[in-house]
Amino acid sequence: MERQTEETIEAELTGLREQYRDLGIFGLRRIIAQRGAEEEQLASIYLLTNRLGEPIAGNLLTWPTDVETVSNRIRFSLDDPDRSGTRRYLGRSVELDQGYLLVARDIEDKLRTQALLVNAIALGSGLMLVFGVIGGFVMSRWMLTRIESINRATGQIMAGDLGRRIAVDGSGDEFDELAANLNAMLERIERLLAGMREVTDNIAHDLRTPLTRLRSRLEVALMKDIDPSSTRQLLEETAADAEGLIATFNALMNIARAEAGEQRASWELVDLGELAQDIFDLYEPLAEERDMRLALESTAGIKVAGNRQMLAQALANLIDNAIKYTPEGGRIALSVAQTREQARRIARLTVTDNGPGIPVELRGKALERFVRLEPERHTPGNGLGLSLVSAVAKLHDARLELADNNPGLRVSLVFERPVDTAPPGG
Ligand SMILES: Nc1ncnc2c1ncn2[C@@H]1O[C@H](COP(=O)(O)OP(=O)(O)OP(=O)(O)O)[C@@H](O)[C@H]1O
Ligand SMILES: [Mg+2]
Repeated sequence: MERQTEETIEAELTGLREQYRDLGIFGLRRIIAQRGAEEEQLASIYLLTNRLGEPIAGNLLTWPTDVETVSNRIRFSLDDPDRSGTRRYLGRSVELDQGYLLVARDIEDKLRTQALLVNAIALGSGLMLVFGVIGGFVMSRWMLTRIESINRATGQIMAGDLGRRIAVDGSGDEFDELAANLNAMLERIERLLAGMREVTDNIAHDLRTPLTRLRSRLEVALMKDIDPSSTRQLLEETAADAEGLIATFNALMNIARAEAGEQRASWELVDLGELAQDIFDLYEPLAEERDMRLALESTAGIKVAGNRQMLAQALANLIDNAIKYTPEGGRIALSVAQTREQARRIARLTVTDNGPGIPVELRGKALERFVRLEPERHTPGNGLGLSLVSAVAKLHDARLELADNNPGLRVSLVFERPVDTAPPGG
């Protein structure tokens, strides 16, 4: 605003100097007198003096006193009886051949506005600072409280309270998200730990008997008065026992691995048809040996995302059961199909046999670890086959269905989200 005032003064002075050049001191005097007379409120000041500083024309009687010069501008104050108080002016004076010329503008209103603005800014900043400090304090207290609660919870978890979870206040903010993520992580760790514990329990519990048996066989074999041929037989049996132990270990480890939930990043697209064909080729000789018919029926191009080795192991376990529990001359079928279920595409991997089947009430139990149903106690096995199938199914988000094949058992793995690579209608 001040610069604007300066510019108008400058422009006016330029104009006046031109008039002076053209019309001389008398012309200028007339113009100044006229302009001065037009100013009633002294908003603008014009003063022309002679070389001695005596006024010739204008609306000021004397050259102002207490003039403050800043570069080529001057500032001064005048008492204004009309508007009570002093008013401040900004102006410029120039020296002419025959005198001095002063042009000034009243900038009191502008200065007041400026003071008002400065005050407002100062007050505003002050308030902002106060509220900022209070707000910052409250925010940081609030954040610290929430971090503190997370710290407390993790502290308690570290101290052994593994079931504890971090409170989620439902606000859905970043802290809630952090808490939810931490909880999910804890959940997973707890599940892994539980799996580990279960495996170690299983090992401790179910391998003790065979190990004890193994040791007693070896002790018998070590007895002096035993003939070499039966020693050999005992050692052979022991080797078979050890074989069984290794198989059980492997099965337990596979189940634990499936249950722990693998890195899905390492999954591949598994063609169920190809998988079924491989397992079919593997088991066909065994089925033939037992005088059974093994059939394969599959649609090409049905793929699911998963771990190929685990899926193969699961399918092998199902075929193994079918062959083991179906009497000689039985019929076993392996099929891969894509169907619709409630308008959704699903892939189905099914193994059927016409053996004794499993009664409805025992189907859930048959999936548990080390569970063998009564009549099968005489066949080899340790009740882990279906447990692995169940774990693999869960890992792949697939449903494991045990149903009646009238007669026999029908086991299906149902994949809810097969990958569509089959040609339409195929
Ligand atoms: N196809 C089937 N027909 C009839 N019963 C079955 C069939 N499959 C499984 N079962 C019953 O379910 C039980 C559990 O099966 P699972 O495969 O888990 O163990 P297993 O076959 O006894 O031993 P493993 O598979 O570890 O060698 C079996 O002992 C058997 O009684
Ligand atoms: Mg089995």
